[in-house]
Formats: sequence, C-alpha cells, structure tokens
Amino acid sequence: MIQVSGLSKSFTDPKRGTHLAVDNVTFDVCAGEVFGLLGPNGAGKTTTLRMLATLLKPSSGTATLSGFDIVRQPEQVRAQIGFLSGDMGLYGRLTPRETLEFFGSLNGLDAVRARRRIDQVFLMLDMNSFADVRGDKLSTGMKQKTAIARALLHDPPVLILDEPTSGLDVPTARNIEAAVLNAKQSGKCILYSTHIMEEAEYLCDRIGVIDGGKLKAIGTMEDLRRETGKQRLREIFLDLLGLAA
Ligand SMILES: Nc1ncnc2c1ncn2[C@@H]1O[C@H](COP(=O)(O)OP(=O)(O)OP(=O)(O)O)[C@@H](O)[C@H]1O
Ligand SMILES: [Mg+2]
Repeated sequence: MIQVSGLSKSFTDPKRGTHLAVDNVTFDVCAGEVFGLLGPNGAGKTTTLRMLATLLKPSSGTATLSGFDIVRQPEQVRAQIGFLSGDMGLYGRLTPRETLEFFGSLNGLDAVRARRRIDQVFLMLDMNSFADVRGDKLSTGMKQKTAIARALLHDPPVLILDEPTSGLDVPTARNIEAAVLNAKQSGKCILYSTHIMEEAEYLCDRIGVIDGGKLKAIGTMEDLRRETGKQRLREIFLDLLGLAA
C-alpha cells in the first residue's frame, strides 16, 4: 500500500549548507501491517513521513500510496491518509467535538455519518470526559488524543503517525496502541515513528532503523535479531547505530 523507492530530501540552510536529511530510502508497508520507523533525533523520520503525507516535496526518488504518486497525485494521496504530526495545530476555541465536526465536513462526511464516527472515535480513545471542553483548556495528552482522533476520523486506509504516544501517560499510550492494533486488524496500513522501544516491539510487524537519513536495517524483530545477534530492540537499535549497548 505504501511503496517508497529511493526517496531523498536535501535541505539548504545558511549555517549547514546543503545536507541530506533523507538519503535514498526504500521500503514498503502492506495493508494490515504496522511498520515502525525508528531513529535518533534528527535521523530523518519526520522528514520522510512529511514527504509521504505530501507536505514536503522530495528532492529525488518516488513513493506511492494505494498506487497514487506523492508528487503527481497529491490530492488523491491525501484522501488515502490520516496523518498525525507533533506540530499539528488544533484550535483553542473549539472543543474536540467541534474540531472533529469541522474536519469531518472538510473530508466530505455528512453530518449524520460524522456524528456516528465521532462517537466511535471518542469511545475508542476514551475521550468522552473532555469531548466538550475548549481546546485551550485541554492537557497535552488530551490534545494529542484529539489530534489522533482527527487523523482517524475519515477512516482512511493508510495511517501515518509521527510519535503518536510522545508525552502520553501509560494508560493513554495504551489507548493509542489499542487504536493502532484495531486499525491494523481492520486491514489498514500503518506507518509510524516512535522513540519508545517497548511500544515498537509490541506493535510493529516490521521495523526500519534510520540514522543520518539512511535506512540501516529493515525487518521483523526476528530479522533484526539475526542481523545484530542482540535480543531486545533497545540493544538491536544501539547496535545498528554503531553504539555499544
Ligand atoms: N525545514 C527544514 N529545513 C532545514 N533542515 C531541516 C528541516 N526540517 C528538518 N531538517 C533537518 O533534517 C534532519 C532530519 O530531521 P527530522 O525532523 O526528519 O528528524 P527526526 O528523525 O524526525 O528527529 P526527531 O526524533 O528529533 O523528531 C535534521 O538534521 C533537521 O535539522
Ligand atoms: Mg521527528
């Protein structure tokens, strides 16, 4: 469902000159699969996910989502995905319910379907206790849940989630993990990034480790164990970065 081929992105800025944030990255993600993108800070995860979500243009390489090309068919690509990223602005004056109603109408959901879907998503993410509280009065985790609810709302076949559980408490993170597994079971294709090793071990069918813009390894936990001779993902990860565990 997601096919990424030789994707690269270079940035030019005054201090650093031109540097490759994403360097010739190739991988794919199937329907019903959770693929985790792991890497240290600045490795190129967000840049990769933003290119796939059509928010950034690749410098070279290609990718398709459900067969649509991210450069040539950005609108069709956007219709396929629910995207969550840390810098996702929510409106302080709107409640989670109003936010979702607004995005539902933007995504062409009629009012009745939208209401039904919003109720489902609120229940799934345990949001009913704050569904009608203004955005600027919500805690970090409540805002994060609202952003995730927004990504799930139109029931897209592909989910691209950039650190969905960052900053969340354990019960809330577990809610999000359950929502991801639920989406996987209903056949969705899920690509997400995280720094939380236990979570990646638990959720991901396959993992890609990126460092300095390059994919260092890709595979199931078993594949990565074989490749590194280490057991736990934390050790595997450090090994692939060339660091001692
Ligand atoms: N708009 C931009 N202009 C210039 N450089 C950028 C831009 N966005 C990202 N970069 C650079 O690209 C590299 C990769 O950044 P990216 O945000 O993709 O990392 P990341 O893997 O998501 O890291 P983190 O774990 O900290 O979120 C970094 O060196 C970053 O400084
Ligand atoms: Mg990032």
